[in-house]
Amino acid sequence: MKLILLGPPGAGKGTQAELISKKLNIPHISTGDILRESIRNNTSLGEQAKKIMDQGNLVSDEIILGIIKERVSLRDCKDGFLFDGFPRTIGQADGLKKLNIDINLVIEISLPEETIISRMSGRRIHPPSGRSYHIKFNPPKIDGKDDETGEDLIQRDDDKPETVLARLEVYKKQTDPLIDYYLNLQKNSDLKFIKINGANSPQEVSKEIFRSFE
Ligand code: AP5
Repeated sequence: MKLILLGPPGAGKGTQAELISKKLNIPHISTGDILRESIRNNTSLGEQAKKIMDQGNLVSDEIILGIIKERVSLRDCKDGFLFDGFPRTIGQADGLKKLNIDINLVIEISLPEETIISRMSGRRIHPPSGRSYHIKFNPPKIDGKDDETGEDLIQRDDDKPETVLARLEVYKKQTDPLIDYYLNLQKNSDLKFIKINGANSPQEVSKEIFRSFE
């Protein structure tokens, strides 16, 4: 199964991707996590990406498609994968087609704008795994610590309110058009598109997503 999770910043893509990846036993490929790992490792990609991400802008299609091409060629992707935060522009979606990757399911997680800011301010992440928590809505078992490793959780640099607003604008201009792109593709291919209400609890959202696999 090859899936895409679409939705604005904070919609819950990463949270659901973690659960879907376990359920379907396919790798969770988050371009945001890959870029953050490059930043942590002080690579030249990381250095370039940090400036762009801190402004809430998008890294170039060329760089992102290069990352994806390399990632999907790895063995663990042979039975499918789940893209989280990719594609994010029409150019990236076209690039995906050129790689002859046929997507089976696109899941759009929608969320009203006012909910997004409060979600971001309470988010805490475990950088090595990308696991995401929320101090109120999805707290870790021990305050400030990752459930699986016990390591420290941190706040993301781009979760400051002003950067979140910039990311939302970028989403509306560059990523939102992908909804129509995939709805159109659904008419002429085997691709399935579903829309999920991300304002429900994480458990309800995943229940609804899992129902679509039946
Ligand atoms: P990326 O890391 O992809 O960020 P994003 O798409 O903006 O999404 P987020 O990770 O902020 O949110 P999410 O939907 O995963 O929500 P989460 O589950 O964490 O990208 C970061 C940057 O990298 C971009 O701005 C760009 O610069 C660059 N980049 C990445 N990919 C790129 C690409 N393809 N092209 C170009 N540039 C790219 O949940 C959020 C919070 O809410 C958490 O605290 C969570 O615990 C909580 N929560 C989750 N679900 C619920 C729920 N149902 N109810 C209550 N709380 C919930």
